[in-house]
Amino acid sequence: MLDLGLTGKVAIVTGGSAGLGRAAAMRLAREGARVSICARRKEVLERTAGEIRQAGGDVLAIPADVTRAEDVEAVVKATTERFGGVDILLNNAGTSAAAAFMDVDDRTWQTDIELKLMAAIRFCRLAIPIMQKRGGGVIINVTTVGGKAPAPRAVPTAVTRAAGINLTKGLANEYASSGIRVNTICLGLVKSEQWERRAKGGDVEAVYREGAKRVPLGRMGEAEEFGDLVAFLVSARAAFITGTAINFDGGMGAVV
Ligand SMILES: NC(=O)c1ccc[n+]([C@@H]2O[C@H](COP(=O)([O-])OP(=O)(O)OC[C@H]3O[C@@H](n4cnc5c(N)ncnc54)[C@H](OP(=O)(O)O)[C@@H]3O)[C@@H](O)[C@H]2O)c1
Repeated sequence: MLDLGLTGKVAIVTGGSAGLGRAAAMRLAREGARVSICARRKEVLERTAGEIRQAGGDVLAIPADVTRAEDVEAVVKATTERFGGVDILLNNAGTSAAAAFMDVDDRTWQTDIELKLMAAIRFCRLAIPIMQKRGGGVIINVTTVGGKAPAPRAVPTAVTRAAGINLTKGLANEYASSGIRVNTICLGLVKSEQWERRAKGGDVEAVYREGAKRVPLGRMGEAEEFGDLVAFLVSARAAFITGTAINFDGGMGAVV
């Protein structure tokens, strides 16, 4: 039995109502962490919070749009008020945005940067001083393997994710002396609600089979496997791991 040492830790999971964030929040709560989840759709958020509570977890659900600075502040404030601080931050909220370069206008670039980069920056700016006061903490930024090796027609997301990978390493270097570890999980293709939406009510398994063809391991990842990786990385068992960009992609990424 690997004791993760997460009992009583306080975790913020952005985009914790669905998909990968939901799986991570569930897993952290099961390990005894107190979890604060945020997302825009209140009813989906409340449903997930109810499921976590039913499984015995301690959860706070805060409706928020992470592209709004005031919402980010409200999430951190409500979390510290309820749980007394923040030990773990999972910057996960996001959505796919990949198109040909000429098809992406300024507004789309800016929206992607606000969602995937500025939200993480704002959460880190607020959480780091709290972690410093507590003697340390752990941050995981969700990015993609495309942030390391961009495919054609993968903007704006590949660029925004590259910035997230760089941010991760920079923060890891800057705050190691404060006992704060910062890593990024570079995603490939992992089953989640966003894929169900893409199936538009059709056969999601067919979508997954199609995705699997692009993955050397021959299948798409499971959200629960992502939750397992998050739980390990934020745990005491990963205390020597910081500044890394870990591919979670079944071998799909073009680079290590
Ligand atoms: N699954 C994959 O294959 C894959 C691949 C590459 C990257 N990713 C990245 O992994 C992360 C999780 O993706 P997923 O597949 O789990 O997606 P998902 O199933 O669509 O879940 C996304 C979560 O983020 C929330 N969210 C989205 N925009 C938000 C906003 N502006 N403010 C607050 N919450 C927001 C959603 O809730 P609301 O809509 O209610 O706000 C939901 O809880 C994302 O950053 C995504 O880009 C996933």
